[in-house]
Amino acid sequence: MKTAPAVLSPAVTAVAPPDRNSATFAPAPNLSATPSPQATTNGPIAPPRPCAEPPPMLPSHRELFEIPRHVAYFNNGSFTPLPRLVRQAGEAGVAEKSTPWLRDEAAIRERADAVRAAASSFIGATADDIALVPSVAYGIATAAANLAIGPATRILLLEGEFPSQSQEWARLAELRGATLDVVPRPGDGDWTSAIQARIDAPGLPPVGIAALTPLLWTDGSLIDLDRLTPSLRAQGAAIVIDGTQAAGILPIDVRRLDADYVAFPTYKWLLGPYTLAFLYVAARHQQGTPLEQHSFNRVANGFRGVLEPLVPTARRFDMGERFNPVSLPMALAGMRLLQSWDRVAVEARLRATTTDLANYALACGLQPVDPRFRAPHLLGVRALGRNLPALISALEQQNVFVAERGGNLRIGTHIYNDEEDVARFGDALRRALQVV
Ligand SMILES: Cc1ncc(COP(=O)(O)O)c(C=O)c1O
Repeated sequence: MKTAPAVLSPAVTAVAPPDRNSATFAPAPNLSATPSPQATTNGPIAPPRPCAEPPPMLPSHRELFEIPRHVAYFNNGSFTPLPRLVRQAGEAGVAEKSTPWLRDEAAIRERADAVRAAASSFIGATADDIALVPSVAYGIATAAANLAIGPATRILLLEGEFPSQSQEWARLAELRGATLDVVPRPGDGDWTSAIQARIDAPGLPPVGIAALTPLLWTDGSLIDLDRLTPSLRAQGAAIVIDGTQAAGILPIDVRRLDADYVAFPTYKWLLGPYTLAFLYVAARHQQGTPLEQHSFNRVANGFRGVLEPLVPTARRFDMGERFNPVSLPMALAGMRLLQSWDRVAVEARLRATTTDLANYALACGLQPVDPRFRAPHLLGVRALGRNLPALISALEQQNVFVAERGGNLRIGTHIYNDEEDVARFGDALRRALQVV
């Protein structure tokens, strides 16, 4: 991979865009160099071979958002801005709540199921497998309440994992007397091999629960879950995945992974509202016990005062007040917008943007995550010897927004980030590093 020059001249005011990853921007093949098979025959002239050029890069869709031109927003791993139409859906939802006499109960139920169906499409599931929950923590707590593990097993967890995962598993291990086995951050950045080695380590109890993620939330390091799940299954482990930083951008296939539970919220990559998340529950757990008891997850309304049977399907794990007239339409609008683009094309665009950002960081002497483990949309950058909070604030003063997570500058790119944002990042980083 070509990179930008190692040192940037302080005299340069606008940094030229660095070279992009050649895998993403492959040069057009020279079709005239190899004669087509048809051209050498004496028969009628065949139509030309289908063009092998890669499709054009998906453009940025900044125009669908309300981001002022002077703002380069890259803190997408925390909160994404709302597309205009998601905001409009939320405003219509507020109006709906203001006029309850106009409520259409059937349409409200249908909307909740449309939300489930949209969420399920990002992970290869069906609407019946999805519960509507308020947060990832709620989803993980539901999984923990329904997984039976004993003292002779271990719960596998990654060092630095997000608290909505780590705290629940640490609590459960203490409660059940199981071993909490925390995989340390590998020095070479190869999480998949480090986790595999830990799964296979001799002399340890079998893994009862593996708390996993497709990528580290602090720096976007990818984990190859397909490689890990067969040996976990062989030990009888339940596989619980926090899909927060992946769903909508990276492919997740719950059937291929044979996952037990997957949780993800709408307010990050799915471009939706806060306080609405999804819990995928594998069919084998859909007879389980929800955290809350209410009329929505029972076959009858419960007014008789006796315990009514729970509904089948993952709907039994729904939260109370699940028919939120504001968040459900917003979530639906955000997910449908995302679905209107080809996921592979979105991934390619974000990867190209991330590659440019990483090259600017490299050119400034910083250390982005190794391209072998780098996610297309979330990039951790080490700034050794620098004061990270001061660096972030110096960037913020130039209207470039990133975050500090786990000792990294964490930069996330989404569909609204464009080439001008990237150039601003390069300029702002160079200036910021002159003062911190
Ligand atoms: C990896 C990860 N999981 C989960 C969450 C959100 O969890 P919750 O919905 O419980 O607040 C975040 C938010 O930053 C996150 O980065």
